[in-house]
Amino acid sequence: MEERISVALDGPSGAGKSTIARAIARRFGFVYVDTGAIYRTVGLAAWRRGVPPRDRERVASMLPELDIALRHGTDGLQRMYLNGEDVTEQIRQPEISLYASDVSAIPAVRAFLMDMQRDMARRYDVVMDGRDIGTVVLPSAGLKVFLTAAPEVRAERRFRELREKGTGVTLEEVFRDIQYRDENDSSRSAAPLRPAEDAVILDTSALDFQASCEAVARLVEEKFGL
Ligand code: DC
Repeated sequence: MEERISVALDGPSGAGKSTIARAIARRFGFVYVDTGAIYRTVGLAAWRRGVPPRDRERVASMLPELDIALRHGTDGLQRMYLNGEDVTEQIRQPEISLYASDVSAIPAVRAFLMDMQRDMARRYDVVMDGRDIGTVVLPSAGLKVFLTAAPEVRAERRFRELREKGTGVTLEEVFRDIQYRDENDSSRSAAPLRPAEDAVILDTSALDFQASCEAVARLVEEKFGL
C-alpha cells in the first residue's frame, strides 16, 4: 500500500492551528483531524455529568460509558458525536475549553483517545492538529510543524473569533483562559505541549493568516514533493 501522508501541527491555544490546518487540507486534499475537538468532547461529557475535570478516578470511570466518534461531512469539516448526539457546536463553549484542558492531563483519557487518532492517520492523508501529535500520536509523521505566537497575539485572535460568533467574553477573560491553558498544557506530565525534536518551529506573531498558510504550504510542498 502507498504510504500515507501525515502532517502534525502542534502548538499552544490560539496559535492559528485549526484555521491553517483547514486551509492546508483543502489545498492538498488531506483530511483535517482536529484532535482538540476529541478532548473537548470528553470535557463536555464530564461537565454534563457534574464530574470534576481534575478528578482522575471519576473521569477515568466515566470513559467506558462514552461512545466518541468523529465524522467528516461532504464539506470536509469534522463533526463530533457523543453517544450518537452531534455535539460539534456545544464543545466550543469557553467553559468546555477549560474542562478539555483539565481532562486532557489525565493519562487514562489520553490512552482512551489514542487509537481513534492513529486510525485516522492509517486510513487517510491527514493534517492533524493538537499538542502532542508530533511527539506522541504520530512520532513518524512526515512533516511536523510547531506553530506558536506571543500570548497577547493569540488572545487577540481568539477574542476576535469568539466575538464574531457572538460570544460575550472580554479580551481579559480570553487572555486569562489562554494563560491558564498554556500553563496546564505545558506543565502536565502526560504528553506535555512541547515541540518534537524534528519539528519546524513557526512563530506567527508577525504573520497574518495568508502568510502563515503560505509558510506551511511551502513546507508541505518541499517535504512531500507536491
Ligand atoms: O485545540 P483545542 O483548544 O481545541 O484543545 C482543547 C484542549 O485539549 C487543550 O487545552 C489541550 C487539549 N489537547 C491535548 O491535550 N492534546 C491534543 N492533541 C489536543 C488538545
